[in-house]
Amino acid sequence: MTYAPIEIAPSILASDFSRLGEELRAVEQGGADVVHVDVMDGQFVPNISIGIPVVASLRKATRLPLDVHLMIDRPERYIEEFVRAGAHRVLVHQEATPHLDRALSMVRECGAQAGAVLNPSTPVVMLSEVLDKVDTVLVMSVNPGFGGQKFISTAFSKIRQLAEWRARYNAGYRIAVDGGVELHNIAQLAQAGANTFIAGTAIFHAPDAAAATRELRAAATNALRQRA
Ligand code: DX5
Ligand code: ZN
Repeated sequence: MTYAPIEIAPSILASDFSRLGEELRAVEQGGADVVHVDVMDGQFVPNISIGIPVVASLRKATRLPLDVHLMIDRPERYIEEFVRAGAHRVLVHQEATPHLDRALSMVRECGAQAGAVLNPSTPVVMLSEVLDKVDTVLVMSVNPGFGGQKFISTAFSKIRQLAEWRARYNAGYRIAVDGGVELHNIAQLAQAGANTFIAGTAIFHAPDAAAATRELRAAATNALRQRA
C-alpha cells in the first residue's frame, strides 16, 4: 500500500506571536502543508497558550489547513467550537477524556479530520479500539506543555508499532510526531514510519523559517527514497 505523502507542520507555539502574519507567510513560502496550533488549558498541561479566537484569526490569515492540538481536559466540550473557528484536523489526547471514542466521532461529525494523541508514557495499545476512527495518530515525543524540550526516543518504537499495524490492517491513518523534531532526527523518524512532522523550535527559532521548513522536508523525503 502507498501511504499519504509527507506533511511538514510548523508549530506556531515557537513563533513570535506579535509577528504571526509574517511567520505564517514564511512557512507558506517554505512549502509547509499544515499549521499546527497548540491549545493548552493550564490543567491537562502546566501551561496556558491560545484558544478559539486565535484559531478564527489564523483561519483568515493563511490558506494552509489548521491542525488544532487540544491539550485540554475533556476536549469534547470544545470540539465543535474549534471546528467552527476553522480547524481542519482536531487532535485529542487519549489521556484527556474517558470518552475518546465519543470525542473522535464528534470531530468527524463536525466535519474535521480526527487525530488521537499519545503522551510519552501511554502505550500505543491504548488506541487499538479506535484506530478505525482516526485519520491521524500523533505520538508525542516530549511531555506536552512546552516547546523546545528534548526528544524522548521511546517515540521510535511506538511509531514502528503503529506503522506495523497500519500495514497489517491496510489502514490509512497518518502517523504524526510532535516534540523535539529536528533536522538530525527527522530522517530516522520517517524511516520508522512517521509521515507528519510537527516542529516548532527547529523552524521558528531558525534564522530562516522558510529554509528550515524546506530542509526538514528534504531530509524526510530523502530518507524515504533511500528506503524504497
Ligand atoms: C508541545 C507541543 C508541540 C511543540 C513542539 O506541547 O505540542 O507542538 O510546539 O515544539 P518543539 O518542536 O520546539 O519541540
Ligand atoms: Zn503540538
